Amino acid sequence: MPFSTLTPDILEGFARATRDAAVAALDLVGSGDKTGVDRLAVVAMRDALARIAVDGLVLVGEGEKDEAPMLHVGERFGSGAGTAVDIAVDPVDGTRLAAENLPGSMAVLAVAERGTLFDIGPAHYMEKLVTDASGASLDLAAPLAANLVRLADARGSVVSDLVVAVQDRPRNAGFAAAATAAGARVELFADGDVERCLRAAQRRTDIDLLVGIGGAPEGILTAAAVRALGGQMQARLVPQRRREAERVRQAGLDTSQVLVLSDLCAGDAWLFLTAITECRLEAGRVVPGVRVDGTTVVTSSWSAGPGITVRGTSARSAR
Ligand code: FBP
Repeated sequence: MPFSTLTPDILEGFARATRDAAVAALDLVGSGDKTGVDRLAVVAMRDALARIAVDGLVLVGEGEKDEAPMLHVGERFGSGAGTAVDIAVDPVDGTRLAAENLPGSMAVLAVAERGTLFDIGPAHYMEKLVTDASGASLDLAAPLAANLVRLADARGSVVSDLVVAVQDRPRNAGFAAAATAAGARVELFADGDVERCLRAAQRRTDIDLLVGIGGAPEGILTAAAVRALGGQMQARLVPQRRREAERVRQAGLDTSQVLVLSDLCAGDAWLFLTAITECRLEAGRVVPGVRVDGTTVVTSSWSAGPGITVRGTSARSAR
């Protein structure tokens, strides 16, 4: 069965996997226990994925670099029959945020037809450039100042009006300095680059561009979302440690290649997420985190896919 005809039941199965992960994680939200939050979410997500009627493969998992609990790369899921799909998955993006009950953590996965997501192999880190499709043709290999001028020109605005999100890490200091020197406004954020990328990929949000080096698995998740949302993205693998660099080279991956959106996600894709703690995914709209209401748990989810731009839903389940 072709990917384009995934049934509502199957799509609901993936949505449910992020809901179940978020509900499970709730028990340790605010506990300070990062590993515990991840473990609860991973177990719940694995159980939910097993019940979906697809031939599923985890192509991109998140957790190896931090030795955290994870859905393992190469892990099979689902009934084993039906449409062959690959997923990129992060049962908790923003683990520290969830453990400290801070905004911006989510259970998230992207689904695509088998073979259409870029295989990052052993890569942990990726440079990313994400914006909406406002007509500017940006180039990750060009100086950031030049990209900011192109983006401002395409919008009929000026660089000083642009907000550039940069994850606050020493490795990204040069990006933040270059954006500031070019006159843009910089938003430094601590964790959770999927949330920022989703805002950057949509027009009329508070982020015009995301740049910098973040997690490679999160980059593939982001690419699927950017594709579904109609934004722009480029990326390049940038290993941060000698061991990672060696493994990436042995895997035959090219760290000089600028990967464009069609390299990162070559076909239609779906993104599903459930907010664990409150997330901001669109301008002016907050997606509430999981909460208990008497004997029920209330979740708020968000998805994007071919033909559907953005869909926010909320659900109640027994606690
Ligand atoms: P996890 O919570 O899944 O570990 O990721 C949080 C995160 O901030 C990601 O959003 C980001 O891509 C990555 O970490 C950056 O990695 P590092 O924290 O090692 O700089």
